[in-house]
Amino acid sequence: MNRLTRIFSFIIVMSVISASTAFAAPAQKPASSGDGVTVTWLGQSAFKLEHGGKTIFIDPFITGNPNCPITLGDIKTADYILVTHDHFDHVGDTIELAKKTGAIVIANYDTVAKFQANGLPPENVLLGGFGRNVGGSMDFDGFSLVMTPAIHSSASGSPCGYIIRFSDGTSIYHAGDTGIFSDMELYARLYPVDVAILPIGNIMTMDAFQAAESLRMIRPKTAIPMHYGSFFLEPSADEFVKQAKRTAPEVDVMVLTPGQGYVFHGGRHK
Ligand code: NI
Ligand code: MN
Repeated sequence: MNRLTRIFSFIIVMSVISASTAFAAPAQKPASSGDGVTVTWLGQSAFKLEHGGKTIFIDPFITGNPNCPITLGDIKTADYILVTHDHFDHVGDTIELAKKTGAIVIANYDTVAKFQANGLPPENVLLGGFGRNVGGSMDFDGFSLVMTPAIHSSASGSPCGYIIRFSDGTSIYHAGDTGIFSDMELYARLYPVDVAILPIGNIMTMDAFQAAESLRMIRPKTAIPMHYGSFFLEPSADEFVKQAKRTAPEVDVMVLTPGQGYVFHGGRHK
C-alpha cells in the first residue's frame, strides 16, 4: 500500500469509527493471516506478532510470567523468536519454544552463542550460525528487522530493541528494556514507527514520565505500554496514559489486555 492509499483508507476507517459509537473499546479480532499485523501482549515484554501466515514472538517469557494467560503447551507454531537481552524475563522459554516449533532465534551475537551452549540446535539459528548486532537491516519473507540500541544491562552481549517493518507497510518498534535516549529520534526518522511498544514500569526501565517524553521523539501513531504490572514494577499504565496526553495528544495510547489480539494496519487498529 502506498502512502496515499494508506492515508485514504485511514480516513475511511476514521469516518466509519466516528459514525459508530464503538470508539472507546478496541475491537477484538481473531489472528489475521493477510493484510495487517495482529499484535498480542503476553505480559511483561512478551508479544506475539502475526502477519502473512508468519508468527513472531518477542521476549517469550511464558513460564513464570505472572501476566501470561497461556502456557508453553498452548503455543503450536512460531517462525521467529526475537530476544532483546539476556535477562530471565526476556529470554524466558526461548530455547524450548524454538526446539518445539523450529523457530529461528534472533538476538545479539553473544546471547545466541550462549543459547547454543545451552542446547539451542544449529537449525534454530540464522544462516551463518550467529546472532546479529546493532546496525543495518535484515530482510525476511514478509518483514525486515532493524536492531536498535537500548540503554540497559544484559548478562551476555548488549541489550537491544527491534523495529519490525512488515510488507503491508506497518512498522512496529519494540524498545526492549531501556531508559530514554535521544537516538530514539534518529531511529524513528530513519525507520518511521507506526506502533511503539515501550517499557513504562520504572525501576529497571523508563517510567511513565520518560516513556511519555519518548513519544515526542518516536512520533508513532499508536503507543502500547509494556513491562509494568508485574513483580515490583509500576502496577498500572494509568500514569503513562495521563502523561502521554500531555506530551503527545495525537498518539493513540492502547493499554492491552494480555491474551487478546489486536489488528493494526499502518499503526491504526480496527
Ligand atoms: Ni532487563
Ligand atoms: Mn526486564
